[in-house]
Amino acid sequence: MDRFMPQPIVAASARSNGLFGVYVHWPFCTSKCPYCDFNSHVYHGAFDEAAYVAAYEREIAWFAERSPGRTVQSIFFGGGTPSLMSPQAVGTILEAIGRHWPVDAKAEITLEANPTSVEAERFRGYRSAGVNRVSLGVQSLRPGPLAELGRRHTVDEAIAAVRLAQSIFPRSSFDLIYARPHQTLEDWQDELTEAIWLSKGHLSLYQLTIEMGTRYYDLFNAGKLKMPNEDLAADFYELTQELTAEAGLPAYEISNHARPGEESRHNLLYWRYGEYAGIGPGAHGRLLIGDTRHATATEKLPFEWQKRVDKQGNGLVTDDVLTWEEEGDELLVMGLRLREGIDPDRFARLSGRRISEHQIKELKSIGFVETLPNGNLRVTDRGWPVLDAVVADLAA
Ligand SMILES: C[S@@+](CC[C@H](N)C(=O)[O-])C[C@H]1O[C@@H](n2cnc3c(N)ncnc32)[C@H](O)[C@@H]1O
Ligand code: SF4
Repeated sequence: MDRFMPQPIVAASARSNGLFGVYVHWPFCTSKCPYCDFNSHVYHGAFDEAAYVAAYEREIAWFAERSPGRTVQSIFFGGGTPSLMSPQAVGTILEAIGRHWPVDAKAEITLEANPTSVEAERFRGYRSAGVNRVSLGVQSLRPGPLAELGRRHTVDEAIAAVRLAQSIFPRSSFDLIYARPHQTLEDWQDELTEAIWLSKGHLSLYQLTIEMGTRYYDLFNAGKLKMPNEDLAADFYELTQELTAEAGLPAYEISNHARPGEESRHNLLYWRYGEYAGIGPGAHGRLLIGDTRHATATEKLPFEWQKRVDKQGNGLVTDDVLTWEEEGDELLVMGLRLREGIDPDRFARLSGRRISEHQIKELKSIGFVETLPNGNLRVTDRGWPVLDAVVADLAA
C-alpha cells in the first residue's frame, strides 16, 4: 500500500461532505442465483480479461478528469462476482485509480467474493494487489437452503473461505439471507448463533426479498414459494436485532451489523450521502460537478458497455442533474437507514427547506423517530420495520 500517499481531503463544493469513493462493478457470474436481480451475467465465450480491464482503466481516467481534487477514501469491487477476476486485473484497476486520484493511505479496499474453494485460492493475490477487506456471500450455513438458493459452494467450503479470509485480510465480513421459505425462527436462531461465532466483527444479514425478473419472482407468483407473512418477517427481524446486539454486533444500518469501528466505510459513504464514481457495466455514481449533484449510470450489458467505453471513453447511459428536492429525498432515503440518523441542517442546506416540524412531532408521538443529543434525527427500533413509510412522511 506504500504507493498510496496520504493526501488532504478536498471538498468539491459547499454541497459536499468531503466523502469520496470509487465503486467498481464486475458483472460476470458462474451461474445465476434464482433470487438475484443484480447486474450479473453468465458468459461462456472466450474472454480477453486484459482488454476488458483496459476499458475500466479508460473509464477511470474519464471519471477522474470530471471529478478532480478528490481523495479516494474507499474502493469497492462489487458484482456480479469480483472474485472471478484475476488478482492482476484487480491490481491493474487499483493502480489506475491511484494514478488518477490520490488514495488515502488508510483507504478501505473491499472485494466481494463467493466462497468456493477455487475463488478462495485467489485471496492471497488480492491481498498483494492492495485489497484489505473482503465481503463473502455465504448466504446460509445449512446445506439444504444453500442448494435451494442455487449456490455453488458447500457449507464447509464457505466456513473454510471465511476462516481463510480472516487470516489474510485485516477486515472481513460475510452475508447471510434469512426469512427464507420454510425457515423457522428456531432454525434461524441456531444458524445466526453459529454465524456470530464465526464472524470477526461485521455481518450483513438480509431478509430475502422477491425481486421482479428473477426465478423466485415467477415461483412466488405461481404460489410455489412460501414466504413468511408480515408478522413472522417482523419476528425474524427482531430476533436478528436481539442476537446481534447481545453479541456486540449491533445494527449500524438496517441490514448491517458491526462491532463499533468495524463498519464498512464504503457503504457508510453511500448512506452518509457522499460522492462516488461508479465504474464498470451497470454501475451507479453520484458526483458533484460545480454545484450540482449528478446521478450517473452506465450501460448494463457487459460487452455493450465495453463498446461504449472504446467509442467515447465512458459507458454512461444516464447523467442526470438532481434537483435540490431530489437531493433532499435521497439524503433521507439513504441516511435514515443508519443508526446515527441524519443531520436536519444538512437536509435543509441540500434541499433548501426544513423537514416539517409537524411531521417530526407526529412521528415522535408514535415512537417512530427520535432526536439524538447531537441534533441528528433517527428512526427508532420501533420505526425501522416501517422505514419506507417514515421516510415518505418526512419527505412530504
Ligand atoms: C451482489 S450480491 C452478491 C455478491 C456475490 N456474487 C455473492 O453472490 O456472494 C450481494 C449480496 O446481496 C444479497 N442479496 C442479493 N439478492 C438478494 C435478495 N433477493 N434478497 C436478499 N438478499 C439478497 C446477498 O446476500 C448477496 O451476498
Ligand atoms: S447472488 Fe452473486 S453469484 Fe448469484 S447471481 Fe447474484 S451476483 Fe451472481
